[in-house]
Amino acid sequence: PDMQSLLNLDEIEEVATKQVSKKCWAYYYSAADDLISKSFNNLVYKQILLRPRVFVDCTRCDTSTSLLGHKVGIPLYVSPAAMARLAHPDGEHGIAQGISTFGALQIVSNNASMTPEQIVEGSLPGQIFGWQLYVQNDRKKSEDMLVRINKMSDKYKFICLTLDAPVPGKREHDEKQQTVGASLPVSSSIKEAGGKPGGGGVGQQLFWGTAADLTWESTLPWLAKHTKLPIVLKGLQTHEDAYLAAQYAPQVKAIILSNHGGRALDTAPPAVHTLLEIRKYCPEVFSRIEVWVDGGIKRGTDVVKALCLGAKAVGVGRPALFGLGAGGTEGVHRTFEILKAETETCMRLLGVEKVSKLGPKHINSRAVERD
Ligand code: FNR
Repeated sequence: PDMQSLLNLDEIEEVATKQVSKKCWAYYYSAADDLISKSFNNLVYKQILLRPRVFVDCTRCDTSTSLLGHKVGIPLYVSPAAMARLAHPDGEHGIAQGISTFGALQIVSNNASMTPEQIVEGSLPGQIFGWQLYVQNDRKKSEDMLVRINKMSDKYKFICLTLDAPVPGKREHDEKQQTVGASLPVSSSIKEAGGKPGGGGVGQQLFWGTAADLTWESTLPWLAKHTKLPIVLKGLQTHEDAYLAAQYAPQVKAIILSNHGGRALDTAPPAVHTLLEIRKYCPEVFSRIEVWVDGGIKRGTDVVKALCLGAKAVGVGRPALFGLGAGGTEGVHRTFEILKAETETCMRLLGVEKVSKLGPKHINSRAVERD
């Protein structure tokens, strides 16, 4: 279908659902157990109300901001998500091309279906990427990948270390589609095709070989030996861990509050709750490191609400993959076009002309405050 005829992210997901294989859909859509965290991730934004001001000149609206010291056109990024070529041959390279004109940042998954070199090929000057690491039991494999990423530091500006999924959650939609590892479009990078002996869901295949023994004391010093790139810790879900992460600045420059799109521990909190906890118990975290969030973003109003609560950037996982499934590179472009336009409309109707002016006074979050 003509991508321009699709008006919102739900319509794009609907088209993608019809077009991609059953296995692909089950892997992308799936979340742990009863999908409580997944559905709550989105619902929680609907329960926060906006507080628009009137008689404000809103002729101009500027969505640009800076992330880790780099200028970006929008405070939106693509979350790392494995196996983009399950949805479309354009794969992760198509995502990079689709978002290029928006000045958005992309985090490339450890389990991408194309190599990190292929993905950044032909990207615009100034277009920036992060590389997401799942530390492997065989540390040498991860160290070799870091050598490759360090060599592309004109493109890859940080390492995103994911911590919320030392083991995969129980994703029943995915597990029903038994998969043989050898059939996955794994890149030549870190995972050999094959994965877990005896089959399983795509998630179970990909997590085979991932280390479950990481700790604050051992992992960050090990990482410092293998890269000088700044570290972004992904998957924090409590104010206690956000506070701890901030003690590791400046090696750690940002944290991503995330429950892995509800795919790891079901009933783990949505990022909004963790943002609210940090504001209450350790607000100094916001000035020591950047706080990014992902999970459940479907509308520009969701993006704006997260920014009002103190997030510096907002990530989308499934929306980028479903964009790809609906129309390859063009579908990803349309997804970001919609999110950017909705974000601008929201800011204008709120009476806020730039991102740095968004704050708690623009929302009423009482309905989701728990303590
Ligand atoms: C993910 N996510 C993920 N995270 C990560 O750190 N490494 C990975 O390889 C993957 N792979 C992955 C695959 C698929 C199919 C999905 C849907 C998600 C989690 C991802 O980065 C992000 O946290 C969530 O997707 C955000 O939630 P939404 O935007 O999908 O609701």
